[in-house]
Amino acid sequence: MTGAPAEPLRATVTIDPENHRGEIDRRLFGSFVEHLGRCVYTGIFEPDHPAADEHGFRTDVADLVRELGVTLVRYPGGNFVSGYRWEDGIGPVEDRPRRLDLAWRTIEPNTVGTDEFLGWARRMGLIPMLAVNLGTRGIQEAADLVEYCNIRDGTAWSDRRRANGHPEPHAVGLWCLGNEMDGPWQTGHKSAAEYGALAANTAQAMRQVDPAIELVVCGSSGRTMPTFGAWESTVLEHTYDVVDYISLHAYYEEHDGDRRSFLASGAAMDGFITDVIATADAVRARLNRRRHIRLSFDEWNVWYMQRFPGAERLDVAEAPRLLEDVYSDIDAVVVGDLLITLINHCDRVAIGCLAQLVNVIAPIMTHPGGTAWRQTTFHPIAETIRLAAGVGLVATVRAPELATARHGDVPAVSAAATHDPSSGAVVLFLVNRGEQPAEVTVRHHGFPGLSMVDGPVAAEGRTVLRLAPESWTATRWTCSAAPRP
Ligand code: AHR
Repeated sequence: MTGAPAEPLRATVTIDPENHRGEIDRRLFGSFVEHLGRCVYTGIFEPDHPAADEHGFRTDVADLVRELGVTLVRYPGGNFVSGYRWEDGIGPVEDRPRRLDLAWRTIEPNTVGTDEFLGWARRMGLIPMLAVNLGTRGIQEAADLVEYCNIRDGTAWSDRRRANGHPEPHAVGLWCLGNEMDGPWQTGHKSAAEYGALAANTAQAMRQVDPAIELVVCGSSGRTMPTFGAWESTVLEHTYDVVDYISLHAYYEEHDGDRRSFLASGAAMDGFITDVIATADAVRARLNRRRHIRLSFDEWNVWYMQRFPGAERLDVAEAPRLLEDVYSDIDAVVVGDLLITLINHCDRVAIGCLAQLVNVIAPIMTHPGGTAWRQTTFHPIAETIRLAAGVGLVATVRAPELATARHGDVPAVSAAATHDPSSGAVVLFLVNRGEQPAEVTVRHHGFPGLSMVDGPVAAEGRTVLRLAPESWTATRWTCSAAPRP
């Protein structure tokens, strides 16, 4: 079929060096390794693989993780943590029990535990973020784990760590108080009041062991949970003074061929973050506190959950192929747009974890005994992490609205911009969510001599860009002089 070329939709994006949201916390670009499917076993760890290092971790996977550029890694779950006995994973490997993991009906050999994982994270230069089990366990086990990891010596647990071959403390600074405790699927699921009370007491005990740690309390496991909002309110009323962050989790997928709604996932995530900030700040006002709670978006991604049969239908197996979604180009566009949303909230969202890192809804995939490779989603993630630096600018978008069935009217174009004052580099990330091309006029008067690297020439503080339909773009710009004060 032939016809006239589609008329482009027209949008403007305005940036100004004076109008920014502050420094981007590098922990915004984190990831997640759960004992789930093949994320750990035959993912990051495979001692019989030809590329395994002396610790049993795959160097080919490690190379891709470095190329991806993630800064932080959350561990060991996820739903897995809510039945996990961390003591199973320390000491001589041959003495460790093989357990039935209830979350994913998987045999957990405990070959990789806290020491092995933290050693890997340290060698990889990744900030570890550990979750404690508040499903089947509680205050004492959480405090014991902090003691095992963070006390130098002279106590039962710190001396156990030393006896296990780790004389230096692991010095884990960031901890999650359980996982998705609002979800009925969670082992040991609780009401908001039950969880809030337990989280507050556990936080207090963990801080009594190490006052320097930072703590993340569980928010809702999704914006569509029936308890959303009320959960955050109640939990924060119990824990406001003893936690630093509240978590958000969100997964997006295309439903029934509704691509337009799927492409609006970034706008849905934006609304979710805005609502959690409003809820946390309402508790702050009610309690008359000065400090703001920050956000930890510690699970986000595209996940075709409709294809998952449900944990109860799974056969019990070791390192099964679970949640090994294969991503398309459109999935990569959506992932790029989700990162745009996170950057646009860098004033409140300090931590972000792409869920997950290897094999399980992941940008990096492996064959057991074979190669490791990049999925489509790898590319916008790696480019965003490589390019986004300095402060997050306010990128004001004027664009036509697209009507979507799931998320209402959303702007056809989304944008985020960063500015590194030390190098003068400006980066503009754009998504065209529409089915036709977009012509975007970028207004940048406050940056004298700003021009795009390998791009169209600017005239009078404006540069016109053309975006392909349903596309993600990253553009690099340089200033010929310091931005106007
Ligand atoms: O990332 C997969 C699962 O999604 C995690 O285990 C859980 O926290 C969430 O529901």
